[in-house]
Amino acid sequence: MSLSGSHLIDLKKFNYQYLLNFFKKVDSFKAKAINKNACMLFLEPSTRTQLSFDLAFRDNGIIPVVFPENSSLKKGESLLDTLLNLESMGFSMFVIRHGYRVESLLEISKKIQTPIINAGEGTTGHPTQALLDAYTIYKNSSNFKKEKILFVGDIVHSRVVSSNVELLKKIGIEYAFCGPESFLPKSNSKKFSDFNEGLEWATTVMCLRNQFERHQDNDPEKIKKVFQRDYCLDKKRIKFFKKDGLVLHPGPFNRDVEIASDILSDKRIKIFEQVTYGRKIRATLIKSILG
Ligand code: CP
Repeated sequence: MSLSGSHLIDLKKFNYQYLLNFFKKVDSFKAKAINKNACMLFLEPSTRTQLSFDLAFRDNGIIPVVFPENSSLKKGESLLDTLLNLESMGFSMFVIRHGYRVESLLEISKKIQTPIINAGEGTTGHPTQALLDAYTIYKNSSNFKKEKILFVGDIVHSRVVSSNVELLKKIGIEYAFCGPESFLPKSNSKKFSDFNEGLEWATTVMCLRNQFERHQDNDPEKIKKVFQRDYCLDKKRIKFFKKDGLVLHPGPFNRDVEIASDILSDKRIKIFEQVTYGRKIRATLIKSILG
């Protein structure tokens, strides 16, 4: 199996063996100049993903073009027609983040030859985030396949969880969800309403951002207060967690809502290590796709 020339919309190709081979490539990745170009279309805010992709392209000898904010999308041109035009200009790759557009990246990718990397799509998926999360666990875990991952927080709005679950199912790693009822999916996945119980079960905890901007029907201040009281990982709660456990957060994190500021220096917290690996994962992926 090869990623050469393919889209990355989801993680279907990443079975366990492929993931391990990919991680080996990440370990040995060395920047090298190649004669390609790329366009990054971030139609939703981003710091980590956009800038790490930017650096990852440069690590591959490519200076990416940032899609203009004042583009003809504002005149009503569809994303598909935009990409068909950019494809005609000769771009070698597209990196796309978007929110709730009518056109899904999966549908668009069937009509575009140029490889597309999904850099976060609505609540559907964020595959490169899941890869860097898995890599962070892989690098820090003594038994990767025996990990038990607890996702805490705004599960229903999380594209990070969607892609992580897609990958974890393929590898066969156990996972569970934790949070207030309105944040949890209706599926029959393992769930904890009590955070302390979840912490005792888990070997890795992934805290998630409260996506206040997506809770349109609810009062964000009320949600925040309840969340801070019951689900903020703080000094008291982290005592329930394993001494050699891992704490991740895809970012951006709301200090003292999801994670208390005064535990950020705890050695189990790997949030900034995730960001470091994000660049390597994306650089390796670009190389794997563009050759
Ligand atoms: N984790 C993540 O996607 O962060 P950004 O939104 O800052 O890119």
